[in-house]
Amino acid sequence: MSQSSVINAGDNVLPGVKNVVLVASGKGGVGKSTTAVNLALALAKDGAQVGLLDADIYGPSQGLMLGVPEGQRPRVEDQKYFVPIKALGIKSMSMSYLVDENTPMVWRGPMATGALRQILTQTRWGELDYLIVDMPPGTGDIQLTMSQTVSVAGAVIVTTPQDIALLDARKAIEMFSKVSIPVLGILENMSVHICRECGAQSHIFGSEGGVNVARQYNTELLAALPLSIEIREQVDAGKPSVAADPESEISLIYREAGRKMVEAIDNLSGEPKPRFSVHDD
Ligand SMILES: Nc1ncnc2c1ncn2[C@@H]1O[C@H](COP(=O)(O)OP(=O)(O)OP(=O)(O)O)[C@@H](O)[C@H]1O
Ligand SMILES: [Mg+2]
Repeated sequence: MSQSSVINAGDNVLPGVKNVVLVASGKGGVGKSTTAVNLALALAKDGAQVGLLDADIYGPSQGLMLGVPEGQRPRVEDQKYFVPIKALGIKSMSMSYLVDENTPMVWRGPMATGALRQILTQTRWGELDYLIVDMPPGTGDIQLTMSQTVSVAGAVIVTTPQDIALLDARKAIEMFSKVSIPVLGILENMSVHICRECGAQSHIFGSEGGVNVARQYNTELLAALPLSIEIREQVDAGKPSVAADPESEISLIYREAGRKMVEAIDNLSGEPKPRFSVHDD
């Protein structure tokens, strides 16, 4: 790890960034990345300046989800700082911008945390209302590194209503409470499947799980997103739902979740902040 990524207590490593929000879960594959990108786009739609940091060093996915062409690299300024790549109206930074797509990340823990520190501290975000961080699954080194490197406004916990995912969601909540990161709310993903043909609803992964966890930890259910082929197809095509069709039923759920998240941040800080600055790009 280079000297430049050594952080001293009190350093403001993200000047200009007002709120850092982690999108996290205990279990893998529950839809963090899909949620993170749609939430980021939802906030931008409401006029906020938004950045999206892919903190999944081993399996970065945001480049694909934002439709950034393979091989596009961030510009480097002053031989040290990455300039985030703009896509769909937000700024983004991901390990996938720095490595070959076909190179598997076989790093040991300390190397991965070093790499995360480096993209965290050496990206010039400029002025941002929100930096949404797409976290890898689990409650390990990367989570600790984040909490120790930057001041975090709060975490959004993504879970499916399945018992095993809920158990892991609880672990994630407990971990964030240990490192004094407030939970802004729970987002239940894949909560209900709606049949395209007949409209019948089935609770494939169970029901009510998210709302129960939210109640137990005295936090809010920000949204319940259905298991929807549209969500998967759009994100896979590099145009997540909120960008593909901002007024669709699904996009409106993400946008409502974004507003509730903003409210939760405002409530924590005691006073509503001046919301968003108008930006012209
Ligand atoms: N609500 C949904 N409906 C249908 N498919 C979804 C939904 N949410 C996510 N998916 C799909 O599920 C898969 C996993 O989602 P995603 O990559 O966002 O999960 P993740 O929690 O970030 O995974 P990982 O733990 O590996 O980082 C993707 O193929 C995504 O398109
Ligand atoms: Mg992911």
